[in-house]
Amino acid sequence: MAYNALDAFKMTGHNVVITGGAQNIGAGIARALSSVGAKVLIADLNGDKAKETAASIQGETGQECHGMKCDVTSLDDINAVVATAAKTFGGISTLVNNVGWGGRHEDPTAITEEDFVKSYKLNTISAYRMSMACLPHLLQSKNATITNSGSFSSATPAYDILAYGTAKAALNQMMVSIAHMLAKKVRVNSVLIGTVMTEGYGDAGIDPAMQEKLKHPDNLIGRSGSPEDIANAMLWLCSPASSWVSGQIINVHGGGNVVRLFGK
Ligand SMILES: NC(=O)c1ccc[n+]([C@@H]2O[C@H](COP(=O)([O-])OP(=O)(O)OC[C@H]3O[C@@H](n4cnc5c(N)ncnc54)[C@H](O)[C@@H]3O)[C@@H](O)[C@H]2O)c1
Repeated sequence: MAYNALDAFKMTGHNVVITGGAQNIGAGIARALSSVGAKVLIADLNGDKAKETAASIQGETGQECHGMKCDVTSLDDINAVVATAAKTFGGISTLVNNVGWGGRHEDPTAITEEDFVKSYKLNTISAYRMSMACLPHLLQSKNATITNSGSFSSATPAYDILAYGTAKAALNQMMVSIAHMLAKKVRVNSVLIGTVMTEGYGDAGIDPAMQEKLKHPDNLIGRSGSPEDIANAMLWLCSPASSWVSGQIINVHGGGNVVRLFGK
C-alpha cells in the first residue's frame, strides 16, 4: 500500500470519552474524532442535548456515538460515565477533558471565595478526577491519551476573569505533571484555546458589543476561531499522528495579538 500520511490520523479502534461535548467546541471535537473512526461517549450536564448531538454525529459519520448526563463535579457521575464507556465499548483509550467556563467579574477586586472554589471544581478538579477514573482503562489501551481544553487566558493577564484564568492555569500545570506521572503509558496534552464565539460569552456576562468586537480580533489570522479549528488540533493530539508528543501545552488561538513596537 502506498504511504499516506493521513492514515496516522485514523482513530479506528479508539474509544473516546469527552466531557461537555453536547455543543460548540466539545461537539466539534466529538464529531472530528467520530469522523475518523472512533467510538465516542459524550458526557454532559445537559443529558438530552448530549444524546441529540451524539445521534446527529452518528447519523453523519456512521460511527457509534452515545450521549449521557454527567455533572463532572460529581464523583458518582464520573464513575457512571466510566462504567458506561467500559460496558458499551469495552474500554477507554481517549479522554478529552473539555468541560470548563466561568464568569466575568464586574468588580475583580471582590471575587468571592465561593466563586474561586466553584471555578476550580469545574475547570481543574473535574479534569483530575475524570482522568484518574479513566486511568485503569487508559493503561490497557494503545495510543492512550488525555487531552484538555485549556484557555489562552491561563497564560496571559486576564483580570476580569480571574477565577477562570487561574483555574485554567492550574489545569495546565496539573496536566503537564500528570504527563510526567504517566510517562511511557499515557500521552497528556492541552490546547490553549483562543476566542471561539459561543453562547457561553453571553452567559459569562460579555455584552453583545464586546462579543461583536471579539469576532474580529487583532490576531495573526484576523478572525475568531471555530469549533473545527480547535477540533483539528485535538484530533492531531488524540490520534497516533502525534505519537511523539506529550506533556505539551499548544496554543490554538489565531497566533495571538499582533504586536507593533512602533506606529499604528
Ligand atoms: N469558547 C471560547 O472562546 C473558549 C476559549 C478558551 C477556552 N475555552 C474552553 O473550551 C471548552 C469548551 O468551551 P465552549 O465555548 O464550547 O463551552 P460551552 O459553554 O459552549 O459548552 C460547554 C458544555 O459543557 C457542559 N457543561 C457545563 N457544566 C458542566 C458540568 N458541570 N458537567 C458536565 N458538563 C457541563 C455544558 O452543558 C455545555 O454543553 C471549555 O473548557 C472552555 O473553558 C473556550
